[in-house]
Amino acid sequence: MAEQKYSLVPVVTSEQWSAYHAIRRKVLFEDRDLFGKYDSDHADDRKAQNHPVILTCDGAPVAAMRIDLVPERAFAIMRTVAVTTEKQRQGHGLIMLSLAEGYALQNGCTAAVVFSANDAIGFYAKYGYELHTWDAAGSFGRGNQMKKVLTTRSR
Ligand SMILES: CC(C)(COP(=O)(O)OP(=O)(O)OC[C@H]1O[C@@H](n2cnc3c(N)ncnc32)[C@H](O)[C@@H]1OP(=O)(O)O)[C@@H](O)C(=O)NCCC(=O)NCCS
Repeated sequence: MAEQKYSLVPVVTSEQWSAYHAIRRKVLFEDRDLFGKYDSDHADDRKAQNHPVILTCDGAPVAAMRIDLVPERAFAIMRTVAVTTEKQRQGHGLIMLSLAEGYALQNGCTAAVVFSANDAIGFYAKYGYELHTWDAAGSFGRGNQMKKVLTTRSR
Protein backbone atom coordinates (compact mmCIF):
# COMPACT_ATOMS: atom_id res chain seq x y z
CA MET A 1 0.00 0.00 0.00
CA ALA A 2 1.25 3.52 -0.81
CA GLU A 3 2.53 5.52 2.17
CA GLN A 4 0.31 8.33 3.42
CA LYS A 5 1.62 11.85 2.96
CA TYR A 6 1.28 14.15 5.95
CA SER A 7 1.72 17.93 6.18
CA LEU A 8 1.43 20.32 9.10
CA VAL A 9 -0.21 23.31 7.44
CA PRO A 10 -0.37 26.84 8.90
CA VAL A 11 -3.95 28.08 8.90
CA VAL A 12 -4.17 30.99 6.47
CA THR A 13 -6.98 30.62 3.92
CA SER A 14 -10.68 30.72 4.76
CA GLU A 15 -10.92 27.03 3.81
CA GLN A 16 -8.15 26.20 6.30
CA TRP A 17 -9.82 28.29 9.03
CA SER A 18 -13.09 26.43 8.39
CA ALA A 19 -11.39 23.05 8.73
CA TYR A 20 -9.52 24.18 11.87
CA HIS A 21 -12.67 25.40 13.59
CA ALA A 22 -14.81 22.46 12.44
CA ILE A 23 -12.41 19.88 13.88
CA ARG A 24 -11.91 21.70 17.18
CA ARG A 25 -15.63 22.50 17.60
CA LYS A 26 -16.65 18.89 17.06
CA VAL A 27 -13.86 17.10 18.94
CA LEU A 28 -13.20 19.43 21.88
CA PHE A 29 -16.70 20.75 22.44
CA GLU A 30 -19.54 18.78 20.85
CA ASP A 31 -17.98 15.38 21.60
CA ARG A 32 -17.81 16.57 25.23
CA ASP A 33 -21.43 17.72 25.20
CA LEU A 34 -20.39 21.39 25.11
CA PHE A 35 -22.73 22.60 22.43
CA GLY A 36 -22.80 26.26 21.43
CA LYS A 37 -19.73 27.12 23.49
CA TYR A 38 -17.08 27.15 20.78
CA ASP A 39 -15.83 30.63 19.84
CA SER A 40 -14.48 30.78 16.29
CA ASP A 41 -13.52 34.43 16.81
CA HIS A 42 -11.37 33.88 19.89
CA ALA A 43 -8.63 36.51 20.05
CA ASP A 44 -6.01 33.92 21.08
CA ASP A 45 -6.21 32.33 17.62
CA ARG A 46 -4.94 35.59 16.07
CA LYS A 47 -2.07 36.45 18.42
CA ALA A 48 1.30 36.77 16.73
CA GLN A 49 3.03 34.07 18.83
CA ASN A 50 0.14 31.61 18.46
CA HIS A 51 0.15 29.36 15.42
CA PRO A 52 -3.03 27.54 14.40
CA VAL A 53 -2.26 24.51 12.24
CA ILE A 54 -4.06 21.60 10.62
CA LEU A 55 -2.64 18.19 9.83
CA THR A 56 -3.48 16.97 6.36
CA CYS A 57 -3.21 13.35 5.32
CA ASP A 58 -3.09 12.88 1.55
CA GLY A 59 -4.40 16.45 1.26
CA ALA A 60 -7.41 16.08 3.57
CA PRO A 61 -7.55 17.73 7.02
CA VAL A 62 -7.57 15.08 9.78
CA ALA A 63 -6.50 17.03 12.88
CA ALA A 64 -5.96 20.53 14.24
CA MET A 65 -4.14 22.26 17.06
CA ARG A 66 -2.48 25.50 18.05
CA ILE A 67 1.20 25.93 18.83
CA ASP A 68 1.69 28.86 21.20
CA LEU A 69 5.33 29.95 21.30
CA VAL A 70 6.49 31.50 24.57
CA PRO A 71 10.01 32.72 23.76
CA GLU A 72 10.70 34.15 27.21
CA ARG A 73 10.27 30.64 28.68
CA ALA A 74 11.74 28.87 25.63
CA PHE A 75 8.75 26.54 25.43
CA ALA A 76 5.80 25.92 23.16
CA ILE A 77 2.34 25.16 24.52
CA MET A 78 0.64 22.43 22.50
CA ARG A 79 -2.98 23.51 22.69
CA THR A 80 -6.39 22.17 21.66
CA VAL A 81 -4.91 19.04 20.09
CA ALA A 82 -7.79 17.37 18.26
CA VAL A 83 -8.01 14.50 15.81
CA THR A 84 -11.25 14.14 13.80
CA THR A 85 -13.51 11.83 15.79
CA GLU A 86 -13.67 8.97 13.31
CA LYS A 87 -9.91 9.14 12.64
CA GLN A 88 -8.75 8.80 16.25
CA ARG A 89 -6.43 5.95 17.33
CA GLN A 90 -4.92 5.63 13.86
CA GLY A 91 -1.64 7.39 14.59
CA HIS A 92 -2.57 10.86 13.33
CA GLY A 93 -2.25 12.45 16.80
CA LEU A 94 1.30 11.23 17.27
CA ILE A 95 2.28 12.48 13.82
CA MET A 96 0.80 15.92 14.42
CA LEU A 97 2.46 16.23 17.82
CA SER A 98 5.81 15.17 16.38
CA LEU A 99 5.60 17.71 13.57
CA ALA A 100 4.52 20.41 16.06
CA GLU A 101 7.53 19.60 18.24
CA GLY A 102 9.76 20.02 15.19
CA TYR A 103 8.17 23.39 14.55
CA ALA A 104 8.78 24.39 18.19
CA LEU A 105 12.43 23.31 17.98
CA GLN A 106 12.94 25.28 14.78
CA ASN A 107 11.56 28.30 16.58
CA GLY A 108 14.01 28.13 19.46
CA CYS A 109 11.99 26.14 21.99
CA THR A 110 13.74 23.65 24.25
CA ALA A 111 10.55 22.16 25.70
CA ALA A 112 6.95 21.44 24.80
CA VAL A 113 4.26 21.73 27.45
CA VAL A 114 0.56 20.89 27.59
CA PHE A 115 -2.53 21.18 29.73
CA SER A 116 -3.78 17.67 29.18
CA ALA A 117 -7.37 16.56 29.53
CA ASN A 118 -7.66 13.69 32.04
CA ASP A 119 -8.28 11.13 29.32
CA ALA A 120 -5.39 12.31 27.14
CA ILE A 121 -2.63 11.94 29.74
CA GLY A 122 -1.85 8.45 28.43
CA PHE A 123 -1.42 9.79 24.91
CA TYR A 124 1.10 12.44 25.95
CA ALA A 125 2.88 10.06 28.34
CA LYS A 126 3.36 7.56 25.54
CA TYR A 127 5.18 10.23 23.62
CA GLY A 128 7.58 11.35 26.36
CA TYR A 129 5.59 13.95 28.28
CA GLU A 130 5.74 13.83 32.07
CA LEU A 131 3.48 15.34 34.69
CA HIS A 132 5.34 18.50 35.68
CA THR A 133 4.19 21.85 37.03
CA TRP A 134 5.40 24.37 34.50
CA ASP A 135 2.77 27.02 35.21
CA ALA A 136 2.57 27.20 39.00
CA ALA A 137 0.79 30.56 38.91
CA GLY A 138 -1.86 29.35 36.46
CA SER A 139 -0.96 32.15 34.06
CA PHE A 140 -1.40 30.12 30.89
CA GLY A 141 -4.47 27.98 31.52
CA ARG A 142 -5.90 24.98 33.34
CA GLY A 143 -5.51 21.22 33.14
CA ASN A 144 -2.97 18.52 33.91
CA GLN A 145 0.41 20.12 33.35
CA MET A 146 2.88 17.99 31.39
CA LYS A 147 6.24 18.75 29.87
CA LYS A 148 8.69 17.20 27.43
CA VAL A 149 12.25 18.42 26.91
CA LEU A 150 12.87 18.73 23.18
CA THR A 151 16.05 17.66 21.51
CA THR A 152 16.60 16.83 17.87
CA ARG A 153 16.86 13.16 18.92
CA SER A 154 13.72 13.08 21.10
CA ARG A 155 11.22 13.17 18.26
C1 LIG B 1 -5.91 12.49 22.27
C2 LIG B 1 -5.77 12.49 20.75
C3 LIG B 1 -5.20 13.83 20.27
C4 LIG B 1 -4.78 11.37 20.37
O1 LIG B 1 -4.68 11.33 18.96
P1 LIG B 1 -4.93 9.94 18.21
O2 LIG B 1 -4.66 10.14 16.78
O3 LIG B 1 -6.26 9.41 18.59
O4 LIG B 1 -3.84 9.04 18.90
P2 LIG B 1 -2.79 8.06 18.20
O5 LIG B 1 -3.49 7.08 17.34
O6 LIG B 1 -1.74 8.89 17.57
O7 LIG B 1 -2.29 7.35 19.53
C5 LIG B 1 -1.03 6.81 19.67
C6 LIG B 1 -1.01 6.11 20.99
O8 LIG B 1 -1.26 7.04 22.05
C7 LIG B 1 -2.03 6.38 23.04
N1 LIG B 1 -3.30 7.06 23.17
C8 LIG B 1 -4.00 7.75 22.24
N2 LIG B 1 -5.10 8.29 22.78
C9 LIG B 1 -5.09 7.93 24.07
C10 LIG B 1 -5.94 8.18 25.15
N3 LIG B 1 -7.03 8.94 25.03
N4 LIG B 1 -5.62 7.63 26.36
C11 LIG B 1 -4.51 6.87 26.50
N5 LIG B 1 -3.65 6.63 25.51
C12 LIG B 1 -3.93 7.14 24.32
C13 LIG B 1 -2.25 4.98 22.63
O9 LIG B 1 -1.25 4.18 23.21
C14 LIG B 1 -2.08 5.04 21.15
O10 LIG B 1 -1.65 3.86 20.63
P3 LIG B 1 -2.72 2.64 20.41
O11 LIG B 1 -3.92 3.22 19.72
O12 LIG B 1 -1.93 1.69 19.56
O13 LIG B 1 -3.03 2.13 21.77
C15 LIG B 1 -7.13 12.20 20.03
O14 LIG B 1 -7.59 10.92 20.39
C16 LIG B 1 -8.20 13.22 20.32
O15 LIG B 1 -8.34 14.18 19.57
N6 LIG B 1 -8.95 13.01 21.42
C17 LIG B 1 -10.04 13.89 21.80
C18 LIG B 1 -9.57 15.27 22.15
C19 LIG B 1 -8.52 15.29 23.22
O16 LIG B 1 -8.62 14.67 24.26
N7 LIG B 1 -7.47 16.06 22.94
C20 LIG B 1 -6.39 16.30 23.86
C21 LIG B 1 -6.67 17.60 24.54
S1 LIG B 1 -5.48 17.91 25.81
